[in-house]
Parts: sequence; structure tokens; C-alpha cells
Amino acid sequence: MWMTHARGGSSGTAAQAAAFLATVQRSASGIPCRPAGRAGGGPLYLGLMLTASRAAGLLQPFQRDDFTLPNRVVMAPLTRGRAGKERIPNRLMAEYYVQRASAGFIISEATTISEQANGWLESPGIYTDAMQAGWADVTAAVHTAGGRIFLQLWHQGRASHSDFHGGSLPVSASAVRIDGDGIQTPLGKKPYETPRALEAWEIAAVVADYGRAAARARAAGFDGVEIHAANGYLIDQFLQSKTNHRTDDYGGSIEKRTRFLREVVEAVAAEWPAGRVAVRISPNGVFNDMGSPNFREQFTHVATMLDRHDLAYLHVVDGLAFGFHKLGEPMTLADFRRVFRGPLMGNCGYDFESAERAIAEGHADLIAFGRPFISNPDLVARFRNGWPLAKPADMAAWYAPTGAVGYTDFSPHAIS
Ligand SMILES: Cc1cc2nc3c(=O)[nH]c(=O)nc-3n(C[C@H](O)[C@H](O)[C@H](O)COP(=O)(O)O)c2cc1C
Repeated sequence: MWMTHARGGSSGTAAQAAAFLATVQRSASGIPCRPAGRAGGGPLYLGLMLTASRAAGLLQPFQRDDFTLPNRVVMAPLTRGRAGKERIPNRLMAEYYVQRASAGFIISEATTISEQANGWLESPGIYTDAMQAGWADVTAAVHTAGGRIFLQLWHQGRASHSDFHGGSLPVSASAVRIDGDGIQTPLGKKPYETPRALEAWEIAAVVADYGRAAARARAAGFDGVEIHAANGYLIDQFLQSKTNHRTDDYGGSIEKRTRFLREVVEAVAAEWPAGRVAVRISPNGVFNDMGSPNFREQFTHVATMLDRHDLAYLHVVDGLAFGFHKLGEPMTLADFRRVFRGPLMGNCGYDFESAERAIAEGHADLIAFGRPFISNPDLVARFRNGWPLAKPADMAAWYAPTGAVGYTDFSPHAIS
């Protein structure tokens, strides 16, 4: 397991990275991310084992209906903050995704569905014609390079600030503030605010925003869409009892807390074949101050509900490398296999060996890699050839508006 190193910095985005690192470090203290165990035996034996297993799992093609992948190495969604103040995808972003087009497929960085959904500096949107056109250029470039790309649909809910919304409070399921270090806003770093609970009548409009964004994603040439229901953003805020204190039809029971997600899935599936719609969840996560005592029952119900929708896949952030709330036994991919019959994608802290194992043991069909794809645009070739991975990217450039630096300037192995 490789680890990231923070470099100090005073810019807003460096501070965001530092906050992120704090979460990672909190989780790293005490909870192993994922056992790094290798098969026993000497190097030759190990080499033979890896060669055999390489032929058998992660690097094998995957097919679901008309969605065919050359391998099961998925590029996880990674917010990189290069879309500019207008939030319009650009040529630099196209170049970045093209460099990573050998992934089984790419899940785009989280992309906001409306103005109200915003809460991150210079992340892209998909709610105007210009944004759609920008994304169309990205998808065309990725397709020309032989790749495939899904769009991740995002509403940040309470993980936002009134500075993003002309002074209006961010919205959430309930008026529950994030207990956290603060948020980078267009006007500097500020404490989190208590969000405004969405009125019942407003929820339909947010659901409709998801539908419209999904339609734009289709028009922009994406291969599918992933609904971001993880990491403490709006849908997760509805799902979890920690942040959803509603007493109407959208809260008060496991089923009612799941209703908003179900309606979003239905709205998005009205614009796409169900086999091109996916959902990401993070049952174990603590990011954005999440974690609810009944998480096992809640997320088992969520997966059971999603099973009825014949999705492209269910993406579970099962690893603990980004923080674990410690409110019970962490949920595993095996827990989800019991209730979800479609393709299952695991993520967080995987390396080649642990990903191979998850697939070989039948726990996962696909594995998403996040941080490894930042500094290894040719991650698949490195896995295939047993080449070493490049050193992890400097966190200072994860989100910073540094343009190409720390973004498109990582070389493939063969020419490094
Ligand atoms: C720089 C950065 C940006 C991220 N942006 C997103 C995002 O836009 N959407 C999302 O669902 N997760 C996001 N994540 C979480 C990753 O998708 C992934 O869950 C995490 O990096 C753990 O996987 P890994 O151990 O393979 O890196 C981000 C992580 C990092 C490091």
C-alpha cells in the first residue's frame, strides 16, 4: 500500500488537500486499509503466480450487454478542479482523460447537475449548453483514443457554502451542519454553515435536475452515467440517519431515506438504458462527517432497492483508506453480493494483487483505482507488464488550479 505525502502550502486548494489528508491520516491511524499480503514462495514462484492470475482476472475483458471493456481496471472519479470559474470542460481536461483512455473505462470527475449543486472550486458542471459542448469534446477525444467514459452526476448538498450561491444557504436533507475544518469558497476558507433543509415540494425539482443533467450527458456522448450517492454529498445526506432527520416521505425510516435516491435513479434511467446507469455508495466512509449507527441496515436496503433497477454496476467504496466511522463491522463487497446481483465494483486502497484477489474470489467484477491513476496514466500497461508504479502525485496539485502541472505531466513508464 502506497501512501500520499502532503506538501505544505497556503493556497486554498492546498488547504483542501490538507483537510483531505487529515481525513486519510485519521483513518490510517489504527485501521489497516487493506492487507498487503502476497502469496508466499520465492520470486520465481510469485512471478508465475502473478502471470497466471493476470491472465485470469483484473486484466480480462468484461462485458455487460452492449458495454464491452478490454479490462476491469476502472479509473475512479477524481475531482481535479481544472474547469475554470465557468466550470466548462476544456482541452486540458480532454488531454488528461485521453492519457488515461486505456482504463477499462473512465468515470469522470464529479460533475454538478445545477448551480445549486456546486460547492467546489473550478469543478465542472453539466447544466448549460457550453458545459455540454465542452464535455462533448472530451468524450469525442476519449473515444478517438479507444476509450470509454461515464459521467459522475454530483450535487454537493450541505458540503457547500453560501459563497457559491450568491448568499443563499446550501441545501440538504435536514439542517445539520458538517462538523469539520471548514470549506474553501470563492471568497476564501470559511467555517461550514448550517444548511437549509429542502422543502418537500423542492425535492422534485432537484430530481428533475438529475434527469436533465443525465440527458445532457447522453447528448454529450458519454457511455453512461454514475450517480454519486457516496462521500457525504446530497444523496448520501438523504440516505443516512446522521444527516436526515426528516419526518415526511423522505425521512424517518430506512425506506423513506432511500426514496430520494430511488427517484433520482428513476429520473436518470428515463434518459438512459438502465444498463448505462450506475450508483456509487460509501457505507463505511467518514468523509464529510458521515457515518450512521444503522449503516448496515440502511445500505443493505439501498443495494436491495438498486438490484431491481438492472444497473450497469453498483460501485461500493468498500476500502477504509479514506476513513472509517467505526460504527460496526465495515461492510464488504461480499455483503453486497448477497443482495445485489448485477456487476459490483470495489474501490479504495486496492493495488494489483488485492484487486486480482477480489475478482478471483468473486467479490468484485470491476475495481476502480483513484490515486494510482493520477501519477500513472498508463496504469493498465504497468499492471500488465509488472512495471513499478510512479511515485504518488503531490497532493498540492490534486485540486489546485495549477493547469498542466501535476495533472497532464505524468509520463507513461516506457518513456519515463
Ligand atoms: C484528488 C481526488 C479527487 C477525488 N474526487 C472524487 C470525485 O469527484 N468523486 C468521487 O466519488 N470520489 C472522488 N474521490 C475519491 C476516489 O474516487 C477514490 O474513492 C479514492 O481515491 C480511493 O481510491 P484509491 O485508493 O484507489 O485512490 C477523489 C479522491 C481524490 C484523491
